[in-house]
Amino acid sequence: MSVVRREKSKLFTPLALADGTLTLKHRIAMAPLTRKRSPNHVPTEMVGQYYEQRASDGGLLISEGTLISPMVPPPPPPAWPGVFSICSVLSSIYSVFSICS
Ligand SMILES: Cc1cc2nc3c(=O)[nH]c(=O)nc-3n(C[C@H](O)[C@H](O)[C@H](O)COP(=O)(O)O)c2cc1C
Repeated sequence: MSVVRREKSKLFTPLALADGTLTLKHRIAMAPLTRKRSPNHVPTEMVGQYYEQRASDGGLLISEGTLISPMVPPPPPPAWPGVFSICSVLSSIYSVFSICS
């Protein structure tokens, strides 16, 4: 078995996306994974920790499925995050958990 050293691996070379608007430092990305940790569609502190633990400098992390309306799809999957209430939006964008719980 041959071993490719990190410095020689294409995985660890930059990748330009969106016509160069965004450049990743490496090519390891995290796929979206449904976590169901947002009771009443409001992300909890644990959600912030989850993504913080998996974030990497210059990497790409795609977050989980997020509901844009409480009506779609009926019934809304429980504990999926949503962006249709002020609490869920604030929690998602600013990691503001205390005012919503
Ligand atoms: C919104 C969303 C949520 C997802 N949630 C999960 C999940 O919870 N578990 C999982 O294994 N894959 C989930 N997937 C699929 C993975 O992101 C990924 O595409 C898949 O595991 C890669 O396998 P594939 O290359 O065979 O498609 C989700 C995809 C999307 C778009």
